[in-house]
Amino acid sequence: MYLRNTWYVGAWAHEVTREPFQRFMLDEPLVFYRTEAGDPVVMDDRCCHRFAPLSSGWLEGDDIVCGYHGFTFDPSGKCIAVPGLDKAPKKAVQNSYPVIEKWGWIFVWMGDAELADESKVPDFHYMDDPEWAGRGTTLHIEAAYNLIYENLLDLTHAKYVHKTTLATDDVTDHPLIVEEVDDTVVVRRDMIGIEKTSPFFNHCAGFTQPVDHTQHITFTPATYIMINTRVQSAAGTTENKFAEFRVINALTPEKAGSTHYFWNLRRNFALEDDELDEWIFNGNSGAFAEDKVIIELQQQMWDTVPESRPVPFPHDKGVIYSEKLMARLIEAEQSAKNLAAE
Ligand code: FES
Ligand SMILES: [Fe+2]
Repeated sequence: MYLRNTWYVGAWAHEVTREPFQRFMLDEPLVFYRTEAGDPVVMDDRCCHRFAPLSSGWLEGDDIVCGYHGFTFDPSGKCIAVPGLDKAPKKAVQNSYPVIEKWGWIFVWMGDAELADESKVPDFHYMDDPEWAGRGTTLHIEAAYNLIYENLLDLTHAKYVHKTTLATDDVTDHPLIVEEVDDTVVVRRDMIGIEKTSPFFNHCAGFTQPVDHTQHITFTPATYIMINTRVQSAAGTTENKFAEFRVINALTPEKAGSTHYFWNLRRNFALEDDELDEWIFNGNSGAFAEDKVIIELQQQMWDTVPESRPVPFPHDKGVIYSEKLMARLIEAEQSAKNLAAE
């Protein structure tokens, strides 16, 4: 069951053009396009007439024409023309969803449109802040979205999954501080004065002496993980170096067992260094490809014992908090819906 009254990332802004395309979100087929003025439109792709995909049709001005029998819908989803009829049947209507274009992403609200609230889009200003540089892409993962945010809430896996990039040996020796703050889960690990950071950070800043490595992760339901991570020369060393990143992750369910994984990796150093930019992008892409392999295998195993409960260990604390928070929010949303229906 999905949380509906929340924003999901549907696309990168540059993907949405005057050429309609289909993308599944939350098990539903949606069509994305832009009006002539450039406003993004997201509506049900399954034509209400006989269910052909609108995305295989075409645009006429701001409206979309079904390529099967010519029903035409305006951006609000209202049918404005049916061939051979003076007036479109009242029932001929598509759901059209509230959309916000912000920071290079297209956010879609698939719940009660009256509750859509821009202030609920998490703060990802790093994606277009001139003080930060970097880029990202989309990964398609054959696994449920929660397995991916759970992976990001427990970075001890880096020691085993990302040996050549993100691994820090000390990660399993440092406890997590986990708390729930205003319907988010915050996980912190501070590794102060460790001998060695990961190969990835070493390449970025060239540390030769001990460092402080901090990882602060925020899970914002339903699908966002922001990782603030910084490595700097430790107190008492003769170096004065640092590298700091914001790893912004949006894990939009495509279907029950698959996810559109949008990510953007921003840094606040070497902003003009294109070569480093390329190296960071490729390095992170490689690391996330490693996550994809293990998470897809994990999903396959999980499917063989869907009712079983995992054996927890202390580094799972953030994962457990996130499970509880999501269960609580989904239940609250369902209760409110049931009450309204009574
Ligand atoms: S299926 Fe779309 S107009 Fe018939
Ligand atoms: Fe990972």
